[in-house]
Amino acid sequence: CGIIGILGQDEVAGRLLEGLSRLEYRGYDSAGIAVMDGVKIDLTKADGKLSHLIEKVAHNTPVGRLGIGHTRWATHGAATVENAHPHRAGKVTLVHNGIIENYAELKTELECAGAQFASETDTEVLASVLDHLLNQSDTLDEACQALLHCIKGSYAIAALIEGYPDLMFVARNGSPLAIGYGGITSTGHNEIFVGSDALALAGLAARVSYLEDGDSAFLRSDRVQVFDRGGAEVTRETVEMPEEGWEVDKGPYPHFMLKEIHEQPESLARLLREVIDIESGALKDIVPTVDFRGADRIVMVACGTAHYATHVAKYWIERFARIPVEIEIASEFRYRPRVHGKHEIAIFVSQSGETADTLAALKDVQGHVTKTLAVVNVPTSTMARDADAVLTIEAGPEIGVASTKAFTGQMLALLALALKAGCDRGVVAPEMLSALVDDLVTLPRLVSETLALSGDIDQIARNLVQSEHVLFLGRGIQYPIACEAALKFKEITYVHADGYAAGELKHGPIALVDDAMPVVVFDGADALTEKTASNAAEVVARGARMVRIGASVEVCVAGVRTPASSEVVEPFVNAVVLQLLAYQAALAKGTNVDQPRNLAKSVTVE
Ligand code: G6P
Repeated sequence: CGIIGILGQDEVAGRLLEGLSRLEYRGYDSAGIAVMDGVKIDLTKADGKLSHLIEKVAHNTPVGRLGIGHTRWATHGAATVENAHPHRAGKVTLVHNGIIENYAELKTELECAGAQFASETDTEVLASVLDHLLNQSDTLDEACQALLHCIKGSYAIAALIEGYPDLMFVARNGSPLAIGYGGITSTGHNEIFVGSDALALAGLAARVSYLEDGDSAFLRSDRVQVFDRGGAEVTRETVEMPEEGWEVDKGPYPHFMLKEIHEQPESLARLLREVIDIESGALKDIVPTVDFRGADRIVMVACGTAHYATHVAKYWIERFARIPVEIEIASEFRYRPRVHGKHEIAIFVSQSGETADTLAALKDVQGHVTKTLAVVNVPTSTMARDADAVLTIEAGPEIGVASTKAFTGQMLALLALALKAGCDRGVVAPEMLSALVDDLVTLPRLVSETLALSGDIDQIARNLVQSEHVLFLGRGIQYPIACEAALKFKEITYVHADGYAAGELKHGPIALVDDAMPVVVFDGADALTEKTASNAAEVVARGARMVRIGASVEVCVAGVRTPASSEVVEPFVNAVVLQLLAYQAALAKGTNVDQPRNLAKSVTVE
């Protein structure tokens, strides 16, 4: 979910909607704004896409210089207008990201005291608790501190309170929240903003400061007071707002996803220049504070597509650096007993740098591992700030919910780390490095050549999307590629798809195979080619409709013949094929490619 708040000198409704449009990637089930005109708080909410809210506001624009807005990814309660934020209880109107874990017991207590609720959300309970505390407390300060003591869970909150026409109360614990400082207006006054990340404040704030967990703040137009968990007033560092804009332009493409797929030759070339000195072929010192020489283990933690990037990278790190690697889904990693290595490096991979589970996992291991390293796309993200070291993937803003250029950027950044570690540990000899760098330099060109295959891929995509299920298979490094293919396919076509290790198929899933089951096989040009071919033969023998993807695919076979590439480049080439395959299948199906149902670009709840 996304939060925006403005304590302005001019009308805020239009600017709240602009801020929400930059935050829609965090959720698009429903949205709403609340604007205070000095006395009363006007609430406008709509279910569905943000455009529905924009239409409503256009018909009846709320007037006022103080306001909050929210775009929702449903947790408690369906995506209805009633459940949309902001929520109101008595004098309090607020928006919230996160989950209040003890909301059910708080709700029961309030109901016993006579409170009534219009929604199923934990957020309305939060508003009601604050209203109740305001009635019972002598001061605003006391009520707000009491609120934070009685709620459990993760939250970022922005609240307006009737009777306080120049005040916003905000708080964070586990969910990010940034305070932005204006923007001198035409009347020479300062303005204050709040956003669930710096991107929400792009174009509004000139400087930004990030609240820390347990912090709360009173924002007034002439004064911002921040308090830590213990209630003591504190100062949080203020930095210049990052230059980088939040581009929301699709250019000549019909969808952001297609634009981002086509940006890969450029985004990968940009990252290559960051990690390799192209002239000399030397690896740059990309993470100078991380010493791989004494590392006895690497753990990589991520969610979704980023997890599959770590799965690909596991092969590279173990091969080139000879360090044992564990890969972990963040939501599982967090909640199981762990045994750390003596010299363990923990790497957290996330496009957004905000995913709640990955972020919490990063916080959990601090102090238990030798180093934490964040591999992110958004350099201002919480993970980038919290980790000991950061490597950015330089992909530029990714807006399509299905991750594409971030996936290949994550793979390349992790490959560079593997080579760096390999060189530092003396496993990768200079001649080997030079051969690998020669291969890597071909990457942008080979990715461009793969993009030109979209005609061949289109026909296959149209056939696949007619089925109810699709199996994707691969061996070795092609196995995580097959998993990512299945993820991409199901998230945007809504056709059930599974990614499987080709050699494991015979241990169960082969029972599903008949002539109605298309099976897509990623053939790697590596030592496993023949073994993959045998597994492919096993499914053909059972009547499966086979699609082969690889550089040695016979032209007569249904499949995609990819450009010949080296072993380290091949996963990138296949990644582009799987992205186009899913994209074109979704187009044929007519789904919303950029904003598939039930998903969000960045999931900031656990
Ligand atoms: C969501 C997105 C996925 C993404 C995952 C992890 O589920 O829909 O596309 O891979 O979050 O996001 P992150 O920002 O941590 O890479």
